[in-house]
Amino acid sequence: MDKLLIQGGARLEGEVRISGAKNAALPIMCAALLSAEPLRLANVPHLRDVTTLLSLLGGMGVAVSLDEKLGLELDAGNLHSPFAPYDLVKTMRASILVLGPLLARCGEARVSLPGGCAIGQRPVDLHIKGLQAMGAEINVEHGYIIARAKRLKGARVFSDLVTVTGTENLMMAACLADGTTLIENAAREPEVVDLANCLKAMGANIEGAGSDKISIEGVNALAGATHRIMPDRIETGTFLVAAAATGGSVRLRNTSAHLLAAVVDKLREAGANITAEEDGIALAMDGPPLSVNLRTAPYPAFPTDMQAQFMALDCVARGTAVLTETIFENRFMHALELQRLGADIEISGNTAVVKGVPQLEGATVMATDLRASASLVIAGLVAKGDTVVERIYHLDRGYECIEEKLAQLGARIKRIH
Ligand code: UD1
Repeated sequence: MDKLLIQGGARLEGEVRISGAKNAALPIMCAALLSAEPLRLANVPHLRDVTTLLSLLGGMGVAVSLDEKLGLELDAGNLHSPFAPYDLVKTMRASILVLGPLLARCGEARVSLPGGCAIGQRPVDLHIKGLQAMGAEINVEHGYIIARAKRLKGARVFSDLVTVTGTENLMMAACLADGTTLIENAAREPEVVDLANCLKAMGANIEGAGSDKISIEGVNALAGATHRIMPDRIETGTFLVAAAATGGSVRLRNTSAHLLAAVVDKLREAGANITAEEDGIALAMDGPPLSVNLRTAPYPAFPTDMQAQFMALDCVARGTAVLTETIFENRFMHALELQRLGADIEISGNTAVVKGVPQLEGATVMATDLRASASLVIAGLVAKGDTVVERIYHLDRGYECIEEKLAQLGARIKRIH
């Protein structure tokens, strides 16, 4: 299993290009299932989750090809098997995103339940409830969701909780339903808007994406289209936090400060000078970081996917920070590993109290999930001596060439096979 070896202490400096967003690419690739014509995608990140989804779609009969500019073409003209097997679904929860499109296009779907996940229970009851409201008959048998609907019918769907992939699944299904669907308490994440833009380019009638009410008027068929995936705001935020923790000065290209206002606000509180640029964002630190409190919540509030990275920053900041996680019940596993590096963290329920220490010390730590891994890398960059991050297959799920990009900014980091 690959590991990362980090020699701490280098200040991050320079320029790096941000990749396309994983959480936009995955639902948009699933949108290809809705049409018999090809969907061409640019700025798709090269990630393990993307490869996993390509295997899943390939198994259903979707033809996959890459053009000369590394654009991805997905052609579901010969979709023959609306089936998502456990072996692939278990490695990536976002596989549930095939459920809505398969049901809408084929009238049936058999999709494995994603099961547990390290950061919490993460059920899919709201996806199922929404599709049932649209007239689907759904049973769970032997760990599989078996869904049938001759043609889905437009409906009013109220989601008890804000769910990102739940909103995306229903929005995709509603595109081919008979009549109008209204999703209330919808997720407002920019990735939902990116998916809606792609669906609209395919001929869907969608209004309100980006607000908590999305209205979709179904059509008989969607066409092919070309779409560019939005920049990854979590990758952007991760590099900004890494630069802030090391007292660095970086410029990130192919991204936008508008995508992460809550994160930029917190970085300013931590003492960073941030400039929004036309094609990116620049950060410079004047002195050591200051502690910042935060509370995770659905967009536009502070993203749960940035909580772990900020915890690493707070570990070496001046002062004491209180971090509250409201989205996932078990998302502090990185705290135990950060403590191995000398961090002072106390956890009580969904709250972590982090007292900044003058210096972390390098050690061997183990990544437990995707964003936890990123926080350990950041901690390793500022720790004195060598840090080894084990189980980095989590990182490869969601960060494109992370060690190469960090090395480009001056970090002393290498992958050990
Ligand atoms: C998406 C993101 C993930 C991010 C999360 C929250 C993708 C591929 N993944 O995950 O990176 O951390 O949003 O911003 O976009 N819930 C239910 N029932 C459901 C669905 C969700 O109870 O049917 C709960 C979850 O357990 C969680 C909360 O709702 O507590 C929010 O989860 P959700 O927004 O659905 O997360 P994902 O879409 O899986």
